[in-house]
Amino acid sequence: MRPADDAPFKDWIATSAVRAKPPLTDFALGRGDDLASVRWFVFGAQDELLSHPALRPLGLAERNRLAAARLVQFLDDMTLTEHRIVNTAAQAIAQNRLKDFLPEPMALDALKLYTDEGYHAFFTAHASRAVRQCFSLAARDEPSLKIAALEAWVAEAPPAQRDLAWFMVGFVGETMITKAIVDAMRGTAHSGLQRLLLAHLEDEWVHARYFAQAFALVWKGLDASARAHWGGQLPRVMAAFHARDPRLHGEWLEQAGLDAAARERVLDRLCGGEGLTTRTRRLCANTLQVLERCGAFKHKAVRERFVEAGLIDPDHRR
Ligand SMILES: [Fe+2]
Ligand SMILES: [Fe+2]
Repeated sequence: MRPADDAPFKDWIATSAVRAKPPLTDFALGRGDDLASVRWFVFGAQDELLSHPALRPLGLAERNRLAAARLVQFLDDMTLTEHRIVNTAAQAIAQNRLKDFLPEPMALDALKLYTDEGYHAFFTAHASRAVRQCFSLAARDEPSLKIAALEAWVAEAPPAQRDLAWFMVGFVGETMITKAIVDAMRGTAHSGLQRLLLAHLEDEWVHARYFAQAFALVWKGLDASARAHWGGQLPRVMAAFHARDPRLHGEWLEQAGLDAAARERVLDRLCGGEGLTTRTRRLCANTLQVLERCGAFKHKAVRERFVEAGLIDPDHRR
């Protein structure tokens, strides 16, 4: 059992965004159309899309629109991930369906996490709508490749194992989300969006600690064959969280005026397998650390799957 003062949600009433930052429900970008002509992005070499040489000829308006389309997709995807993916995992814990592994106070804490994600989904959807209006971007209703891949992965598990499968999805999602938000903050020049992302990030630091503690308990409770099974499957879950949609990226690039050959060059780098491995490894650094701390890589079968996926080095210490 964890000591009470190590409970990630112990200050939740005073510090969570839903309790301490209600003005985020009034999210507004500012005044009118001229916002579209202000620079929206922070240009940096780590921005794989905007720093690609094929995009050099683009002017501010095209770059802004591209950055806005990507931001809207990030926000929409986050909205859906919060209530359709993470909160499905939170429900499994909150309803004590993982009681073989997790003590009851953690089930109660899962309801705090559930509440946070509902609020995040709400203010994130607001922000997406505001950016979309500012740039006259069309709404997209279809779920991303990520959501489809994660749901398909859970559906493959036998019914009796689905709660555990959802838990694994929640663990990966909640231990990598902080880095994804930091990335989005780095690339965004708008101060209102920065504030919103920071409020989200502060909650997610708590969630990441919670899921790290929960994973340690679940891992401890699994026998050797279950560890080999679930541990070996995690690279697929981690990759699913970071897949990019080549069709969507192709559309944005076409709208920005890139010809087919230039689009191909950008998509190769952004959506290809090597890019996915590098991105997954970087954004899942915290997830990988938790796995290391739990001793997951001491299991040969697990270690081999991670090496195959390029998420740890072949000479990873045992
Ligand atoms: Fe969240
Ligand atoms: Fe979260």
